[in-house]
Amino acid sequence: MKVAIYPGSFNPFHEGHLDVIKQALKLFDKVVIAKGLNPEKPSVVSPLTFSSPSVMMELKALNEKEDKVPYESFMGLLKDYIENSIVHSDGIMEYAVIKGLRNGQDLEYEKNQQYWNEDLGIEIPFFYIISDRKYCHISSSAIRGLAKFREVEDG
Ligand code: PNS
Repeated sequence: MKVAIYPGSFNPFHEGHLDVIKQALKLFDKVVIAKGLNPEKPSVVSPLTFSSPSVMMELKALNEKEDKVPYESFMGLLKDYIENSIVHSDGIMEYAVIKGLRNGQDLEYEKNQQYWNEDLGIEIPFFYIISDRKYCHISSSAIRGLAKFREVEDG
């Protein structure tokens, strides 16, 4: 079984994240959403928050028959989470870390993250998925920013 571990802050989880998962499911049997804490970003470790009900419904639908897209959260280093969660079972399970890339800025950022993670001892491969052009401008921080403006307008 091929398992992709998809780490991120997911605050909130949005269409772009869902698109990365759908692309990954063409190659992997399972995509584990691994919500962690980025000390640079405002975040809570759980629960998974969604940008819209439709994103939530689509994720739910993907999990309806089999648990293809399980959700987990972790504190601390990604390396420790991966070490504790992968099943060492004679090569029956194959693991990779996946990340989405919207632009060159993401590429530079993720490349450094990968190098740090490798230096820390992560041995499974990292794979990158280019975001569909429809979602390249969508970011969790922009969604949080918009929500703040709406709060001000409503309140
Ligand atoms: O890019 P994102 O979405 O903000 O990713 C957040 C997350 C939680 C995946 C990332 O910050 C992370 O891996 N945090 C755990 C700390 C860690 O392992 N850092 C190692 C690289 S310096």
